[in-house]
Amino acid sequence: MSAPLVLALETSCDETAAAVIEGVACLRGSAVTSQAAVHAVYGGVVPEVASRQHLTQIRGVVTEALSAAGVGLTQIEVFSATTGPGLASALLVGASAAKGLALALEKPFLALNHIEGHLLSPFIGAEDIPECVGLVVSGGHTLLIDVAGMGRYRLLGRTLDDAAGEAFDKVAKLLELGYPGGPRLEEEARSGHPARFDLPRSMKCSGDHDFSFSGLKTAVRYLLPKTQPGDRPDLCASFQEAVVDVLVHKAVRAAGLSGRRLIAVSGGVGLNLRLRERLVCAAAEDGLEVRFAAPAWCTDNAAMMAYVAAQRWKSGQSSGLEEDIFPTLGADLFKAI
Ligand code: KG4
Ligand code: ZN
Repeated sequence: MSAPLVLALETSCDETAAAVIEGVACLRGSAVTSQAAVHAVYGGVVPEVASRQHLTQIRGVVTEALSAAGVGLTQIEVFSATTGPGLASALLVGASAAKGLALALEKPFLALNHIEGHLLSPFIGAEDIPECVGLVVSGGHTLLIDVAGMGRYRLLGRTLDDAAGEAFDKVAKLLELGYPGGPRLEEEARSGHPARFDLPRSMKCSGDHDFSFSGLKTAVRYLLPKTQPGDRPDLCASFQEAVVDVLVHKAVRAAGLSGRRLIAVSGGVGLNLRLRERLVCAAAEDGLEVRFAAPAWCTDNAAMMAYVAAQRWKSGQSSGLEEDIFPTLGADLFKAI
């Protein structure tokens, strides 16, 4: 019997995406359209605009993913979609589309967790999930998760206020760098001096695995009027260093305390080169390895969701068509391990 073909849809925020996977290890096709340009006018994601965009883009990405995979809709054996966490009205579009397809084609449906997608994205292409500590650093979340294997996760810590990506976006907005802020701030930081401004490393030594980035953002806000336009690269570099410093320190510490030898980094902030460079160095000093999600799978995409779907289908799971969406991250994903 050949491995099943699974279609996954992702519409939790401002990317509309679809992907087809065969079995767990063979990603056959993936398509993503970003709405960043549409939301840039407003300086951030507007939920109603996002859901209306998903509605107009979803058919196109499904067609593109199927065609990249070289398969037709009737060959798909499982339909799946992200049902949370994310923007409620945006989640509804992908979930309804996947449920509609499952219903029409009389095939099973699988509800997917967006965080699990990010968490497992460094392992796309692998049959099994290794033991590791996952650092999920996206626009909406900053989490440290102890991973014992597929579906066996324990939440170690999370941000108590802004997510790391959110802090990048908010500081970039203060500095009028545009949206999305992360990549633009990193670009600006490239010519700056990271030790020029002494910015807070909130909760770095808090003794737990939690984070806080809103004080750092406020510190930049108060510092800004005292600087010159020419100081901007130094300000960006100093801000980036403060975020990276805390993320690196806490991820390495969490791996050490959990007895895991691997740190798996995912989410949009995982694209940040300074984070990559510093984490690899710090981990190596403690004999730890680091695996980053491939750049294409760092920001939102459906390939990571298809990978979760295939893994869950392999372990015998499916969902009912009455399954609701869940905008916030609950405790369901984290079972005692
Ligand atoms: O994973 P993602 O699509 O967000 C959520 O699912 O929430 O990642 C988007 C986030 C944004 O906050 C963006 O500014 C940030 O990732 N980001 C970066 C970089 N590229 C994207 N942050 C820092 N450095 C980057 N190079
Ligand atoms: Zn995401």
